[in-house]
Order: sequence, then C-alpha cells, then structure tokens
Amino acid sequence: MNEANQDVKLGVNIDHIATIREARGTDEPDPVFGAYLAELGGADCITVHLREDRRHIQDRDVIILRQTVSTRMNLEMARAEDVVEVALKIAPDQATLVPERREEVTTEGGLDVAAEKSALMDLVKRLKEVGTSVSMFIDPDHAQIDASRDVGADAVEIHTGTYANAQNPDDRQRALQEIMKSAEYADSVGLTVLAGHGLTYRNVRPVVEIPQVVELNIGHSIVSRAAFVGIERAVREMKELLKR
Ligand code: PXP
Repeated sequence: MNEANQDVKLGVNIDHIATIREARGTDEPDPVFGAYLAELGGADCITVHLREDRRHIQDRDVIILRQTVSTRMNLEMARAEDVVEVALKIAPDQATLVPERREEVTTEGGLDVAAEKSALMDLVKRLKEVGTSVSMFIDPDHAQIDASRDVGADAVEIHTGTYANAQNPDDRQRALQEIMKSAEYADSVGLTVLAGHGLTYRNVRPVVEIPQVVELNIGHSIVSRAAFVGIERAVREMKELLKR
C-alpha cells in the first residue's frame, strides 16, 4: 500500500470557521459555505469535529454538510452516545475516533485504543454497519497501532502534535522519526496511514516525504491563512506543498 509516488491528499478541518461564528452566536461565517470553497480550492476531504460540548461545529452543520460535501466527509468524534447517534444517522464517509476532554483547547493527544478495546470494537462495528470507514487518531506507538488493527479500524491518523510543537531541531527530528516508524509499521499491518494536528505551511514538508502517509488533516493553519487570502487560495497553497 505504498503510495510514495502519489500526492498526499488533503483533509481540510473547518472547525475554526464555526469557532468564529460561535464567538458571536450568529449565522456567519457558515462552515457549509467554507467547505464548498475549500473544495473549490482542491480539498480532498472535509473534516469536522462534533465535540460533546458543541463549542464550534453544531449538529445542523454536520447534517447539512453530509448533503453538500461533494468530496468526502470525515467526522471526528469521541465515544459520547449523543455524538455517536448523530454519526450513525448521517453515516459520514469516514469517522475519526478521538479522545476528548472538556477543558482542553484542542485535541491534546491520541486515543488510548489499547485501554478501551472492547468498547471501541463495538463502536467500530456500528459505524461500519452504516458504511462509514473508521480511523483511529493515535500517538505514534506500535501498541496503539496493534490495538487499532484489533478493533477493526481501517486507518490510523498519526498524531503529529509532538513534532509540530517541538522546541528545538533535535526534539523535532526525534518526533519525526517516531512518526516515520509508526507509519511504516501501520502500513505493514494493513492500515491506511493518515496524519495530522499542528501541521502548518512551514512544517508540513517532512511529513509529506513519509512514503506511507496518504492523507493529512489540517485545520488551524489553513483557516488562519484564509483570514488573509480567502480559504480557496489557502487550500490551494497547502495542496501545492502536498505534492510529491
Ligand atoms: N486531526 C485531528 C484528529 C484533530 O483533532 C485535529 C484538530 O481538530 C486536526 C487533525 C487538525 O489539527 P490542526 O487544527 O492543528 O491542523
């Protein structure tokens, strides 16, 4: 499943368009319109996180996006029953299971799949029954990859936060090596390899060079750039950096 010669696909996380809307509690900017423009800019997938506290993306957004997204829709979700209900109702193309803590500013680490195996196995099965493929957002760790395969996941999204937040070149290189080893191992056990979190126009290239990585999910950096140049152009510029 080595995709080394193909460009890396781009999932655009549009949560922060909804963050701006929720700051005023009005109806703009609409993430549905943002998704449409991101697709015009070349997004291969639209990613949204329906958080338990509904701090940005709302149920209304995922229901409409399911009907309007013309590429693929990836729903990030924790194992909260009301969120699972929405997921099973809309049946996104893909669900990414993430850990969630109410007090966090953003997702802080990977899901501990190994510790929640039986509950996750059941959830993966329910999602697959409605035709949704399932990805696990995990830290670069072989045990989590084994557990992801064991619960029936189709893919893993390797958490790139440690790499992105590294404060010096040595730490950054070490974190990159961990991602590379995990990507190779996940691919070898038959899982599709995605990656994301904290990636920017400046730090994305070394991750693009990892041959097993087929898709990246990027949000904050693209929406930040979009504030200055518009989301269509911001996506197009990121797509350029994902070429191999
Ligand atoms: N992947 C997952 C699983 C995430 O939770 C997030 C943040 O919502 C992202 C990717 C995108 O991260 P960022 O906004 O830092 O690009």
